[in-house]
Amino acid sequence: MRGSGDLAIINISECLTPKGSTARCGASMADIETIPDAVILIRNGLIAYAGPASGISAASFAGMPILDSGGRPAIPGFVDSHTHFIFAGYRAEEFYWRAGGIPYMEIHKRGGGIRRSVDATRAASLEELVALGKKRLSAMTASGITTVEGKSGYGLDLGTELRQLEAMRALGDDPSVAVDIVPTFLGPHSTPPEFAGNPSAYIDYVIATVLPEVRARKAAVFCDIFCEKNVFELEDSRRYLEAARSLGFRLKLHADEIERIGGAGLAAEMAATSADHLLKASMEDLEAMARAGVIATCLPLTAFTLREPYADARGMIDAGLALALASDLNPGSCFSQSIPLIFALGVLYMKLLPEEILTALTLNGAAALGLAGKTGSIEAGKQGDIVLLDAPSWKHLAYNVGANPVSCVVKNGIPVWGS
Ligand code: NIG
Ligand code: FE
Repeated sequence: MRGSGDLAIINISECLTPKGSTARCGASMADIETIPDAVILIRNGLIAYAGPASGISAASFAGMPILDSGGRPAIPGFVDSHTHFIFAGYRAEEFYWRAGGIPYMEIHKRGGGIRRSVDATRAASLEELVALGKKRLSAMTASGITTVEGKSGYGLDLGTELRQLEAMRALGDDPSVAVDIVPTFLGPHSTPPEFAGNPSAYIDYVIATVLPEVRARKAAVFCDIFCEKNVFELEDSRRYLEAARSLGFRLKLHADEIERIGGAGLAAEMAATSADHLLKASMEDLEAMARAGVIATCLPLTAFTLREPYADARGMIDAGLALALASDLNPGSCFSQSIPLIFALGVLYMKLLPEEILTALTLNGAAALGLAGKTGSIEAGKQGDIVLLDAPSWKHLAYNVGANPVSCVVKNGIPVWGS
């Protein structure tokens, strides 16, 4: 359980935040409130005041612990709404194979890729997965991430899938971990060797044996699937998502990443919370997502490391969608969690405004996890999840390419990293 505290953050040069308790769509993603010379008061972990210093008297925070920002800008803690941070083993050689021209799916077909991580993760104990996860979470804290989603999907059997989810629960219960964790079941990430060549039979097994157990243990909030040509195609994906929905799970899809098969359209049909990747999604399917209120989650670090054309995030916002951005941290397609690099790629290659990127990495990331009423913005009533930047302006997040300007992280009103 996370602790929660009282804190007065004073001398903030400018406080920047999207506002609201639902995802912001289309043009409204660029509406960022800017409060110069701001103060944030947090009581019992929740924001009690966020506004100009002139709007509050020092007496109202007398006796509270004080964090003097010393003229630094403040933004909401980042919400990384798509990661695969619980895994054992690494696949560094595949990075270099891809750099040498071998495509991601070719490595996957040859039994490399996800399969390699499955072997290593099946061999890892709960304690090992927890220790690996903890290390990755503390690196996330240092980059200002205060809420993270994590997926299973490197077990592909009942025991290991549950162990990955259990590792996330143990980390969520660890008071020394400063990040809230939202667990997602991604059993259909690849077909395991036990069902080689028969993805439909594996989906049958997941529906009959694994999903009910995940439900009974309340081990996941979301269910996700790698809906992709030669992985799990539309019919199997639909069957699985219907089964998950009928058990009360919320839905996510890895959709239209490598080839366009209509995963984005399926996300709209199923009223999923988000569809993710979307590099090859059709505008027609994206418009159906907009009508169905499905959040479009783009993962620029994955496109960058796979050297694929970036998703049309500009077109998505212009079509009225709510865009979230996330890292996709995983041992294969994207071993990176760099928030500053997401900012730079978004500005340089995806035609996004820094304001839109800030919304996509905070409020809309929270909405992609069903948490927009609790975090993702600096407003009275929300969790005191705040980041201070050691930079003259928050816009250095993209401009100082790849550098981490985060100098202090506050979670639920408690300073958890930096000073
Ligand atoms: O989101 N595309 C499928 N799943 C992951 C990659 C997993 C892996 O390569 O280990 C992704 O990119
Ligand atoms: Fe992913």
